[in-house]
Amino acid sequence: MSSQAVRLVVLVSGSGTNLQALLDAVADETYGARIVAVGADRAGIEGLARAERAGIPIFVEKLADHPTREDWDRELAARIAEHKPDLVVCAGFMKILGTPTLSSFPVLNTHPALLPSFPGAHGVRDALSYGVRITGCTVMLADAGVDTGPIIAQASVPVLDGDDEETLHQRIKGVERSLLVETVGRMAREGWTVTGRTVRLGRSG
Ligand code: GRF
Repeated sequence: MSSQAVRLVVLVSGSGTNLQALLDAVADETYGARIVAVGADRAGIEGLARAERAGIPIFVEKLADHPTREDWDRELAARIAEHKPDLVVCAGFMKILGTPTLSSFPVLNTHPALLPSFPGAHGVRDALSYGVRITGCTVMLADAGVDTGPIIAQASVPVLDGDDEETLHQRIKGVERSLLVETVGRMAREGWTVTGRTVRLGRSG
């Protein structure tokens, strides 16, 4: 594996199928990135088990183990920093990151709706309840807000008659995994620039 590969720390809170898609992608050394650690805000999740099976170092930093949110923010940033990432990827990480992490590393996030519609923890449910016929997923840079960072890439998914939250989310996740893998790979290989809210992949100039 190339030592030039972009170093990724991936953060998860759940089943880790997006992480798995990245684990599969980085197996190809032409992908341009490697996963140097996987972190979580809770123990005992499949996302961490996937990392362990792949032989990747893991760490867990639970909010409840810290007296304040600020302490957790600082400790999480320190745990991430130990692995010297070039890019942090939130792959179903269900916490808002604080300034210590956001000011230290570029952070990418993925969301199962077409932002700026339906931000937050229930994007799929909210889109379904609203009655939209097209939803999708968004890969964006993380900022201090809830799914408010500059958008990098989006893909659409139709809502089908009879969909419930589970069926729709599963279909979105299929598209989301591909979008995440494609976007992270391009960022690793081509770099990116941010001007205001506009993110451009590729070298500038
Ligand atoms: C993804 O849809 C992500 O956008 C959302 O939670 C899901 C995580 O799935 N926040 P997984 O843990 O990668 O399987």
